[in-house]
Amino acid sequence: MTSASSDYRNKDILLGVMGDPIVQSKSPVMHGAALKALGISGAYVPLHITPGQLGEAIQAIRTLGFRGVNVTIPHKVAVMEYMDRLDDSALIVGAVNTVVNDDGVLTGYNTDGIGYVRSLKAEAAPELSGTRVLVIGAGGAARGIIAALLEDHPLEVIIANRTEDKAKQLAAAFQSKGAVSGIGMDEIPAHIPGMDIVINTTSVGMYPHTDATPIDPALLREGMIVSDLIYNPLHTRLLTEGQKRGCRIHGGLDMFVYQGAYAFEYWTGRSAPVDIMRQTIIDCLR
Ligand code: ATR
Repeated sequence: MTSASSDYRNKDILLGVMGDPIVQSKSPVMHGAALKALGISGAYVPLHITPGQLGEAIQAIRTLGFRGVNVTIPHKVAVMEYMDRLDDSALIVGAVNTVVNDDGVLTGYNTDGIGYVRSLKAEAAPELSGTRVLVIGAGGAARGIIAALLEDHPLEVIIANRTEDKAKQLAAAFQSKGAVSGIGMDEIPAHIPGMDIVINTTSVGMYPHTDATPIDPALLREGMIVSDLIYNPLHTRLLTEGQKRGCRIHGGLDMFVYQGAYAFEYWTGRSAPVDIMRQTIIDCLR
């Protein structure tokens, strides 16, 4: 089968997001605003793709000449087998959230971890080198973030997880990259006084359970940076309690915005208008 040309520079750029369900995705409105702000002609559309349709849908990227797509739940792992190439960012996490089509050759990236670190540096912690970071949770999100944190910065990471074994296993996977250790949640009080940054990667505190916090907020101290991947609510109880105690806070919305910013930049070669992207999401959450 021949592919439509993906030389998007001379025609409308076609982009989208594949998921099931997809109606809740904020990516179309965010990327639509970014395209408009830069005067790029094209569209970013929501694509409702069930698991059984994924292979055909990926082939359709080539056939229809899409420049790229985002991939969301439940396809982030399954989509890997349909890629021609996988970037290291996707291999490390074992999941793809961004596909780039170069003349029919599909490359899978994962921009969640690098998006998170870029947002953390831009919004809360410009100097990451030499910091001590407590990561709560040891799932896929934690893996991507730790990989991105260790990529360019000499820093110390402690992973705390409900299932301690998973924290230790994840720490072992990064042994060659830096000082990473794994602990159980009960050990957090002993370690937290030395920490500069606390990052919640679990779903604890997410709507509708907004009273919950992954750790006792009394452990947070003035001067710490407290970061939460959750963006519904925009500010979790962990963040509001941290703010009360003089911590600098960093919410999950920025991770979402910056993972999208990387994808946008891979597709268009242009700097993403992150402030416009963020404001668009805030307006549509209101
Ligand atoms: P993701 O890809 O978003 O990281 P995941 O791989 O399912 O999702 O990982 C979820 C993480 O949140 C895990 O570290 C999980 O802890 P366990 O390994 O013990 O399951 C953590 N988590 C989820 N719900 C939690 C809760 N109620 N309390 C503490 N940790 C929780």
